[in-house]
Amino acid sequence: MNIIRKPQGTLDILPEDSIKRIFIEDEVRRIFSNYNYKEIRTPTFEKTELFKRGIGEETDIVSKEMYSFHNDEFTLKPEMTAPVIRAYIENSLYNTSGIQKLFYISNMYRHERPQAGRYREFSQFGAEAIGSSDFYIDAEMISLGINILNNFGLTNLKIKINTIGNLDERKLYLEELKKYLSKHLNNLSETSKKRLDINPLRILDTKDKKEIEILDDSPILYDYLSDETKNHFQNVCKTLEKININFEVDFRLVRGFDYYTSTTFEIISDDLGSQNAVFGGGRYDRLVEQLGGKQTPAIGFACGIERLMIILAKRNYDYPKQYGVDICFVSLGNEARDFSFKAVDVLRKSDIICETDYLNRSIKAQMKEANKLNSKYVIIIGESELSSGKCTIKRMSDGEEKEIPLETIYKINKSNLHSIV
Ligand code: HAM
Repeated sequence: MNIIRKPQGTLDILPEDSIKRIFIEDEVRRIFSNYNYKEIRTPTFEKTELFKRGIGEETDIVSKEMYSFHNDEFTLKPEMTAPVIRAYIENSLYNTSGIQKLFYISNMYRHERPQAGRYREFSQFGAEAIGSSDFYIDAEMISLGINILNNFGLTNLKIKINTIGNLDERKLYLEELKKYLSKHLNNLSETSKKRLDINPLRILDTKDKKEIEILDDSPILYDYLSDETKNHFQNVCKTLEKININFEVDFRLVRGFDYYTSTTFEIISDDLGSQNAVFGGGRYDRLVEQLGGKQTPAIGFACGIERLMIILAKRNYDYPKQYGVDICFVSLGNEARDFSFKAVDVLRKSDIICETDYLNRSIKAQMKEANKLNSKYVIIIGESELSSGKCTIKRMSDGEEKEIPLETIYKINKSNLHSIV
């Protein structure tokens, strides 16, 4: 019979990778809590309307990439910002504190064309700070993300920041941009021609060399922004400089969501190929209102865990934790197997990681398995051990052995394990 394979663009996370992810998640949780961010979990699927209204109907994500079902009523979440804001409003989190600092680690779903670093199911960790328009929170958000990446030894990444103003500020600019690009219509790709009417800002994101040349002389959004927006941006930049963060201002940086206002940022890595953004975010001061709440400023970011792991693999990152076993029981004969099974049952309750044989293998095969499992100790039980009431415990690192009474086995715990031999 033919085998059934996983859907395209998804990943099996096998134990070897799983341990790395657990390490990353533990580190991320530790750093988020240093900044006093608290974890939030939201449903895997939401009403489709949330993403249409939150992200914007004309964005690539909403128009092409959503996994919607039950007559399009529900959608697997393609991102977390809209769900977090929905939960913030629905659970009246604004009543609990002036500013809500929330973080998440979760799977996302986008029906994109799969390629290296781009999946249909992927995971992100991210943060959202809701309730403050202070430029210090923009700087904190960027520094938080960078500190997480630095924590994994990633220091030479490119940080791009920009400010894109609000809808009103963008209006005049978009008219000018459209006018300018219409003069170059013949040299625009089909995608950009379509975007010209529905979402011209996205054209700034083009990878097409000819279009990049055309854009070189196009109007610059920054010139159309209000003094207030420009001041906010200058303050963010100055604050980042004060805390020694190297960044590049990129006036053409736009992001694929309609909710952004003011500050936007991205971190890119040359280790990633064409999907080079590992981290992206920005301010979205109108989203709470758009989703039915009171006008509330907010800012956030998300980082792709698979992309982070690709960079770490390229840089031969040394993950510290490995799976390991404290004690392997090697037993021969039915009575010995019975004894070992009871012993592991007791020891596991004392937090000793232990293993016994389930395949009725020879002593030699069981010893080989203990080596493969990286077991720190081996205890050998056979007929003679059961009749003498004593057994041998062997330290695998140097082969040192000690004879101990069988009852001693039951007294082994985390703190005395290494003093037995
Ligand atoms: P985003 O730029 O769409 O932003 O995604 C953030 C990160 O998720 C990307 O930089 C990338 O590392 C990862 N990512 C995105 N799509 C894929 C994919 N198909 N496969 C693998 N990794 C992917 C957001 O999602 C916003 N919600 C960020 C945000 C939070 N803005 C404000 N608050």
